[in-house]
Amino acid sequence: MNILAIETSCDETAIALVRATGTARPQFAVLKNAVASQIEAHRPFGGVVPNIAKREHHKWLPIILRKIVGDDESAGWRSAFKKIDLIAVTQGPGLEPALWEGIEFAKALAKKYNKPLIGVNHLEGHLYSFLLMEKTEIQSSIRQPADKFSKLFPAVALIVSGGHTILLRMNDVLAWKKLGETRDDAAGEAFDKVARILGLPYPGGPEIQKISEKGNPAAIAFPRPMLDKKNYDFSFSGLKTAVLYYMRDHAPKANEANKLKADVAASFQQAVIDTLVGKTMRAVSEFKAKAVLLSGGVAANQPLRDALGAQARGNRMAFLVPEFKYNTDNASMIAVAGYMKYLRDGNKKRRITARGNWSV
Ligand code: KG4
Ligand code: ZN
Repeated sequence: MNILAIETSCDETAIALVRATGTARPQFAVLKNAVASQIEAHRPFGGVVPNIAKREHHKWLPIILRKIVGDDESAGWRSAFKKIDLIAVTQGPGLEPALWEGIEFAKALAKKYNKPLIGVNHLEGHLYSFLLMEKTEIQSSIRQPADKFSKLFPAVALIVSGGHTILLRMNDVLAWKKLGETRDDAAGEAFDKVARILGLPYPGGPEIQKISEKGNPAAIAFPRPMLDKKNYDFSFSGLKTAVLYYMRDHAPKANEANKLKADVAASFQQAVIDTLVGKTMRAVSEFKAKAVLLSGGVAANQPLRDALGAQARGNRMAFLVPEFKYNTDNASMIAVAGYMKYLRDGNKKRRITARGNWSV
C-alpha cells in the first residue's frame, strides 16, 4: 500500500510518500519525504504564531506536493496518484488553523483523485516513528525492528515533543495505555523557554544542547521535578522558573557570562534528562518491559538518547529511537500511523475535523 501523508499541525509543512507492507509485522519504506520548515517566519516572535503557520502552510503545501508527485500537474499527477492507495492527514493535536490547512488540502486531493482519506493522531505518528526506514534499506532486515516484534513487548514508550511529554505502556504494536504525562509545560517547551531566558533563538532545544557541550552539567543543582513521586506524571514549569530565578540572582561579570550560560544550560538539560530517564526506567521495571521507545522532537537530543539508550542496554533491552530526521515533525511518521490505524479500523468512514487538543 502506498500512502501519501500530509502534516501541518505546527510549524513544519510536510508531505511524504511511504510504502507499507504486512499486517502482523508491518514494514515501511520511505519513498519520498519533504519538509518545509517555517522556523524563520516564527523566529522574530520567539515561538509559533498560529495565523502565520496557517498562511505558510497554505503557501507551501502545493510547492511540497510538487516535490513528491512531480511538476506536471495534469497527466503527470493523475498517473502519480494512480499509484497512491490511501491519503493520511494529521487531525491533531496541534494548532487548529494550521491543522485545517492540511485537512482541507488532503480532502481536496482525496476528492479529486477518488482516494480514501484517513485522519491521524500526530502523537501516534511520533510513537510509530521508530518503524521508519529508508527505501535503500528495505532489503536489510538487521535494522528492521518489525522482525523482532514479539521480542519488543511489553514496551515503554516516551514521547517528548514541543507540546507533549507522555509515557505509555505498549502491550503490542496496536495496543497501549497512557501511564502519565506532563501537568504543565512539555519537555520541548521547557527547552524553548529556558533558551529564551538565556537569550538563545527559537527553537531552543538544539541551541541548549549546543551550548551545554561547553558547560558543566553538575554546576547547578536544579530540581528534578516529580522524580520521587510514585506516578508517571511530569512537570517542567517549576524547573523553568528555577532557571529564571537563578539567572536573576547571579549576574555574572562580563567575561564570565558565556561560562555561566553554558553551565545553566548544561545543568538544566541534565535535570530534564534525569527526570525523563528516571521515570521511564521506573515504568520499565514495574512492567518488565522488553524495549524502550523514544520519540518526538526532544528525542533529537543526543545526551538524552545516550542516557536512555545506556540504561536500556544496561538492562539488556532493545532501545528504539528513529533516525534524527524523523524525530522532529515530518509526514512519513503520519503515513506509518495512518497505516496502523487502517490495520485497526479498516476503511471506516469518519468525518475528519481538526482536533487541537486530541491526546492518545
Ligand atoms: O516533535 P516536534 O518537532 O514538534 C511538536 O510536535 O511539538 O518537537 C519540537 C520540539 C521543540 O520544543 C524543540 O526545541 C525540541 O523539540 N527539540 C529539541 C532538540 N531538537 C528539537 N530539544 C532538545 N534537544 C534537541 N536537540
Ligand atoms: Zn510533533
